[in-house]
Amino acid sequence: MRLAAKLVSVLVLGVILIVAVEAYISIERDTTVLHDIMEDDADQLGATLKVLVEDIWNQIGQQRAWDVVEDGGHEGSVVDVRLVWLDAQRGDRDAPRASAETLRMIRGSDPKSVRERDAAGHGFQFTYALLDVDSERPVALEISRPLDASDSFRRKTISRAWVVAILLTIVSGIAVVVLGMAFIARPLSRLVEKTRRVGTGDLSGPIDLKLHDEMGELATALNEMCEHLAQVRERLLAETEARLTAMEQLRHADRLTTVGRLAAGMAHELGTPLNVVSARADMICEETGQSSVENSAQIVKNQIDKMTKIVRQLLDFARQQGPHKSRQDLTVLIVQTVEVVASLAKKQNVEICTECLEEPLFIEVDGGQIQQVLTNVIVNAIQSMQQAGTVRVRLQRTAARPPDTADATTVSCARIDVRDEGPGISHQHLEQIFDPFFTTKDVGQGTGLGLSIAYGIVRDHEGWIEVECEPGVGTCFSIFLPDTKP
Ligand SMILES: Nc1ncnc2c1ncn2[C@@H]1O[C@H](COP(=O)(O)OP(=O)(O)OP(=O)(O)O)[C@@H](O)[C@H]1O
Ligand SMILES: [Mg+2]
Repeated sequence: MRLAAKLVSVLVLGVILIVAVEAYISIERDTTVLHDIMEDDADQLGATLKVLVEDIWNQIGQQRAWDVVEDGGHEGSVVDVRLVWLDAQRGDRDAPRASAETLRMIRGSDPKSVRERDAAGHGFQFTYALLDVDSERPVALEISRPLDASDSFRRKTISRAWVVAILLTIVSGIAVVVLGMAFIARPLSRLVEKTRRVGTGDLSGPIDLKLHDEMGELATALNEMCEHLAQVRERLLAETEARLTAMEQLRHADRLTTVGRLAAGMAHELGTPLNVVSARADMICEETGQSSVENSAQIVKNQIDKMTKIVRQLLDFARQQGPHKSRQDLTVLIVQTVEVVASLAKKQNVEICTECLEEPLFIEVDGGQIQQVLTNVIVNAIQSMQQAGTVRVRLQRTAARPPDTADATTVSCARIDVRDEGPGISHQHLEQIFDPFFTTKDVGQGTGLGLSIAYGIVRDHEGWIEVECEPGVGTCFSIFLPDTKP
């Protein structure tokens, strides 16, 4: 059964019960009051008539007393007064109308009232007053009065109680249905619908019941639960995504390791034959005087040199040996590197401008490796400039926080910025520039290993590289080297 119907039933039963109890109490009380009044009246009348009839009986005679009482009644009167022989047989004309049992209770001279119902259900009040007269047989004055008034009062009160009960039932039923719909049924159905949605995983759309009762509290609790669940789900999604990314990176790193191993093997295998070919090309150049052969041999040698350089870079990339650190002045390392690449810069019409600290900046690094990093980054900067311009190399001391680690603390480090005026790096390429063999240069122009080697070396020094670029304006590579104590 629906909740509203249950409430209506309980309320209606309650109303009927209350009305019935109230009707019963009021009927009993009012009937008692009515009977008391009727009894008092009859007793009063009995006492008065008793004295009168006794006088007539004693002074004039029995027959006169009998006649006076019989003539005293009038048509339409509800009260009937008679003289009766108490010992007369039931059915006799002058026998009392009350039952023998009732008559046995009549003692003494005071009038006595009793109530009885006949076989047809009609009720009567009988009042008997014993006469103190000169007679051998017991004689009494009988005043009888029907209980119609009190019966009709009872019936009316019961009917009124029914009407009140029915009206109250209708009114309270309507009220319960209307209020039940507004405050229980509708909010409940919205709560149920929301709960079903939550069950299917839809946590959106909080419900606002605009109620300040238990329903409202339930809705608020449900909304809070959904919010909490949504946060947990978001966190889980983020964690899953991070895990997937980490797995992807691991797979990528795994691939790189394989490539590194392959490269190392290949470089090792190619190294010896290349040395032999290079030496033989040298010999041809030295031994033959013919210029065309010498020229061809020179070309072979140049190409071999290129291949040797690639192989060396591959070996550097694949070699997994740690840096041999010592205290180095970074200013000196920068100056030396700039000197090495100066000729290339000049060829490209690029000026290299260094902004170093006035005092030396000593730090624990592998000098050779850091020079290699600087060379790779500065050469990239020079090569990116298609026209004359300036590459700025700046050294400074700073405090920075390593990226990609949420709980990392700020560390003191040396920062080397290499800023060029090239075209910048596209967003798509930016994610790949540290990948080995990624290059945008023409075939034969670049191996795509420069930055991946630089990345590996800087990471071995517990540092990191950040890239900032603005398309059309330039790129800035920042190398962070923590000031680690030996
Ligand atoms: N300063 C820069 N400006 C614009 N693009 C750059 C810059 N530095 C690097 N790049 C991009 O990153 C790619 C990878 O650089 P990386 O040094 O690893 O290889 P490479 O320079 O192509 O080859 P290699 O260094 O072996 O000669 C480059 O091909 C280029 O597209
Ligand atoms: Mg390069």
